[in-house]
Amino acid sequence: MKKILIGNWKMNPGSPKSAESIFSEIKKSPGSTDVEVVILPPSIYIPLIKNRGVSIGAQDAYFEKEGAFTGEISMEMVKNMGCRYILIGHSERRLLFKESDKEIRKKIIAACVAGLVPIFCVGENNEQKNDGETGRVIREQLSVLEGLQVEEMIVGYEPVWAIGSGSPCDPEAAFRMRLLIKKIITQIFDRKVAENTKIVYGGSVDLGNCKKYIEEAKFNGLLVGGASLKKEFGKMISEIG
Ligand code: 13P
Repeated sequence: MKKILIGNWKMNPGSPKSAESIFSEIKKSPGSTDVEVVILPPSIYIPLIKNRGVSIGAQDAYFEKEGAFTGEISMEMVKNMGCRYILIGHSERRLLFKESDKEIRKKIIAACVAGLVPIFCVGENNEQKNDGETGRVIREQLSVLEGLQVEEMIVGYEPVWAIGSGSPCDPEAAFRMRLLIKKIITQIFDRKVAENTKIVYGGSVDLGNCKKYIEEAKFNGLLVGGASLKKEFGKMISEIG
């Protein structure tokens, strides 16, 4: 299975010129035939990096098809702009924009209808971790998939406490979470879907630790925030490739 390196630019950078310069640094990388590179830019920059040798996706889209939803974009629009992926359930959307599991489920359905591949994020926060609730939280978040027909999907394990904190999850603990996610996906769907579902790790990934999540924790790829805006993102491609 080809590995996947996903760069989530979040709400960065401030100008198309900066977006271009970040992207051209990534393009300087010799790359790897064994790694699919995905960029999730702010949606307004999607045309800038379209058809330039990497896969693209949006960081969010609404579940309704069209209509009076000021400020929103639809899954179909994302697809028709040349995207293959859509990030769904990121903890920043859950926390800052109060996105519920119900909405997340609707977004996954809408993404599949539009022919997009969801990158579905799950992860526990610090309090839940300290209370020993991690397993329960992950199971509950994944349960939105019950009864759905999902052809292709990526699941991102992003412990909330590790995001942007400089304190990544220990690869051994991440490995156990990967196994748990795989088990739950098998229970919800079947072994075949579980085998085809890529599971990626996200949370303070950098050039120094990226390889561990692939080689030791056996993830199929990485979901990178802050470091995806830096030169090191290009180097990560060969590091994990
Ligand atoms: P950081 O890599 O900045 O911790 O962010 C991870 C993330 O949220 C990717 O979606």
